[in-house]
Amino acid sequence: MPEEKPWWILVGGMRRLGGALAEELAEDHALVLTGSQDGEGGWLKSLGSRTSLRTFRWNAMDPELGPQMMADLAGLESAGIHLGGAVILAGVFPEHPFGAWTMTELENIWRVNLSFPMLCAQALAPRLVDGSCMQFLLDTSIHQPFLRRLPYSASKSGLGSLVPGLAQLLAPRLRVVGHAIGTALPDENSDPEWLASQSLLKRNGSPADVARSLRFAEESPYLTGEIMTLDGGRRWR
Ligand SMILES: NC(=O)c1ccc[n+]([C@@H]2O[C@H](COP(=O)([O-])OP(=O)(O)OC[C@H]3O[C@@H](n4cnc5c(N)ncnc54)[C@H](OP(=O)(O)O)[C@@H]3O)[C@@H](O)[C@H]2O)c1
Repeated sequence: MPEEKPWWILVGGMRRLGGALAEELAEDHALVLTGSQDGEGGWLKSLGSRTSLRTFRWNAMDPELGPQMMADLAGLESAGIHLGGAVILAGVFPEHPFGAWTMTELENIWRVNLSFPMLCAQALAPRLVDGSCMQFLLDTSIHQPFLRRLPYSASKSGLGSLVPGLAQLLAPRLRVVGHAIGTALPDENSDPEWLASQSLLKRNGSPADVARSLRFAEESPYLTGEIMTLDGGRRWR
């Protein structure tokens, strides 16, 4: 009988980088993907033909989020699905120039980029099988903040404190690792060539680069509490 693939949950795994990582990981993982909206039907169908797949609607703005997460995770266990890893990558990446900050906008960023990952960690930790790794996607901006996206950078730096703190709280049962990534999938408003020029290696990363780093953390049972920077050397320029 073929060996069963381990189940991983990707929080924010239905779009953009999350979707590309799901594609990369589907070969050797069964997947639970979450998004604030339903995923694109055709894509999910095609992914579901390659691996076992479940989807949840987890919206950071939903006041019923906590009970929803608990119910969904209990449902997985009832179905005999035990999570062997978690990648928390949901986030927003807005421009917010200094002078234009408002309480409402700042709170929205903290909510999606910081409060939501923290609540996910709290909900997921008791459900992960012993020895699992909980992984967070941060940003190279934790080293050199993006000045037009300082609230974004500050929220990612908050995750930079969460990783070693959670590693201490959850050890020795679980490991916790962060990945401070450079450009892996530029958004439509950015200039990929300029972004590549900002790195020592003069190239942007790719979802495959990030997936390699996630796999490395998964396969490194002596690694916890660390944030690995994967930015082509951008922070050393
Ligand atoms: N792309 C890059 O090159 C790059 C570079 C450095 C760091 N990162 C980090 O990697 C992660 C993914 O990047 P990305 O470019 O794919 O980001 P993105 O386009 O902003 O998408 C982020 C994900 O967050 C989810 N999300 C947004 N608002 C949400 C909400 N209210 N509730 C629940 N989920 C929500 C989205 O799901 P829905 O669409 O379903 O809402 C989406 O799957 C982010 O944490 C980002 O900071 C990315």
